[in-house]
Amino acid sequence: MTLKIRSKTSLYKPDTVIIAGAGPGAVDLMTVRCQRAIVEAEIIVYAGSLVNPEVLKFSSSECEIHDSAEMTLDKMVEVMVAGIRSGKKVLRLHTGDPAMYGAISEQINALAEAGIKVEIIPGVSSVFAAAARIGAELTLPEVTQTVILSRRAGRTPVPERESIPELARHQATMALFLSVAAISDLVAELLEGGYAQTTPVAVVYRATWPDEKVVSGNLADIADRIEQAGIGRQAMILVGNALSRKGALSRLYADEFGHGYRPAGVK
Ligand SMILES: C[S@@+](CC[C@H](N)C(=O)[O-])C[C@H]1O[C@@H](n2cnc3c(N)ncnc32)[C@H](O)[C@@H]1O
Repeated sequence: MTLKIRSKTSLYKPDTVIIAGAGPGAVDLMTVRCQRAIVEAEIIVYAGSLVNPEVLKFSSSECEIHDSAEMTLDKMVEVMVAGIRSGKKVLRLHTGDPAMYGAISEQINALAEAGIKVEIIPGVSSVFAAAARIGAELTLPEVTQTVILSRRAGRTPVPERESIPELARHQATMALFLSVAAISDLVAELLEGGYAQTTPVAVVYRATWPDEKVVSGNLADIADRIEQAGIGRQAMILVGNALSRKGALSRLYADEFGHGYRPAGVK
């Protein structure tokens, strides 16, 4: 996959680190802008535990590359600040979209203390990559119009009002990050919150990577299926009746419903 990128203006501004989402895994699911940022970068700090290292092949041979999986926050900030102070183009690469569980606020705050700004390039989050892999619409008319993006508490605590049973009471579609290691406990909490045993669930392990696995089932059987598949990390869990695709038709394309782009009654 090659994209010819011709742009005379640099993406990089003085005293500004670019934070970019590199997408869920497949190299061609990174945005064109993220690819441009990689091409131009002189220092890259990438989240090596989840970002596909293949994306780094777009970097220049002189680019200095650091894997943040081996670094503390202080060390990362030290590298980024030193890079900016020596006039380099510094890129921080996250997996998916940086806004979801990217721990970017602490980086932005620490950089701000050093007088450095950030600019963010969004990416394709694993939630949407996983939905695409299972062919799901997460918002199905008359079933749910809401998606809850959340996680079980782990090393990072979750406020009690956002516990899984509390969120499950909405019966919306839930997209759960960082939770597959405790799938049995998660299922018990979803049931406690009111989902039926028959509620569809899909677990997508490493969506869009070559070793991707998709395991589908319902709340009654998903924990066993996940154990059999040997999935214990790096998976997106999608739960809810929208996955059944049994909802009402949307009004957007209904014959009798007109709008600015199509009058009502036109077949
Ligand atoms: C630290 S969070 C980062 C999420 C990321 N910012 C995003 O938008 O997808 C890591 C978690 O995201 C989910 N995840 C990230 N990449 C994934 C992928 N390719 N397939 C499935 N889940 C993924 C998993 O739940 C994983 O434990």
